[in-house]
Amino acid sequence: MLTFKSMEKIAIASGKGGVGKTSLTLIIANFLKSKGYKVGLLDADIHGPNLVQLLVSNNDVSSPKSDKGTNQLVPQIIKNFVVNSIDFSMSKEEATIWRGPLVSKVIKHLYLNTKWGELDYLLIDMPPGTGDAYLTILDSLEIDKILLVAVEDDFCISNLHKTCSLINKLNKQSLGIIENLSENFSVPSSPVISKRIKNEFDDEILFVLPRLPRKIFYQEVNNLDKLRRYIPENFLI
Ligand SMILES: Nc1ncnc2c1ncn2[C@@H]1O[C@H](COP(=O)(O)OP(=O)(O)OP(=O)(O)O)[C@@H](O)[C@H]1O
Ligand SMILES: [Mg+2]
Repeated sequence: MLTFKSMEKIAIASGKGGVGKTSLTLIIANFLKSKGYKVGLLDADIHGPNLVQLLVSNNDVSSPKSDKGTNQLVPQIIKNFVVNSIDFSMSKEEATIWRGPLVSKVIKHLYLNTKWGELDYLLIDMPPGTGDAYLTILDSLEIDKILLVAVEDDFCISNLHKTCSLINKLNKQSLGIIENLSENFSVPSSPVISKRIKNEFDDEILFVLPRLPRKIFYQEVNNLDKLRRYIPENFLI
């Protein structure tokens, strides 16, 4: 049923909540788009979908429709990204009070039944933890590549070890770690890799983003004005 062949499917994961997975999904998406690639975004955070909110500040999106011929979900095209999220089908204040099996079913539905079209990359914004969404995405749906997000913080590092152990158990490939919210600087505005993260994980640290003032960061996620300098020119390409 899937229409893509050579698309790179990459899950952006961490283990810990609030470390920048959703923000980095969009930062990477904007980076790849600026290089001319066609990017799809799948929000796999069923209980706390924030991707669309971050992408369109006014939340002005319509409900998904089905393609009459194929019965597939027609994704939204937002800022040239092909996007699907449970957020399109729920009211903004409504909680998804769903147990694991239903969460898995919804993720599978969003992934398998969306008419993604021809994409170069599908980026999957993962929820926190190592629960049902991870087993569904990495195991049942056989997504093999994972970008890890780390913050130099006891809780994040401890949870990231759990995520790494899950990745190993499922024989998946970590593409490396993106360190976020760094407060280690060599010179102003030039963050350096955390020695602790470097020592505790075998994964390559791909780049480091500093902690920016919140207001600036929100703008940066979409325009990459100041953030672009931290991302290697050939990142993922
Ligand atoms: N480098 C940064 N500088 C400043 N603020 C940041 C940075 N990275 C993330 N944030 C802020 O941290 C908060 C959490 O980010 P985000 O929602 O992307 O994390 P998450 O890992 O997806 O969270 P969750 O696990 O809840 O889905 C947001 O308010 C975001 O704007
Ligand atoms: Mg998130």
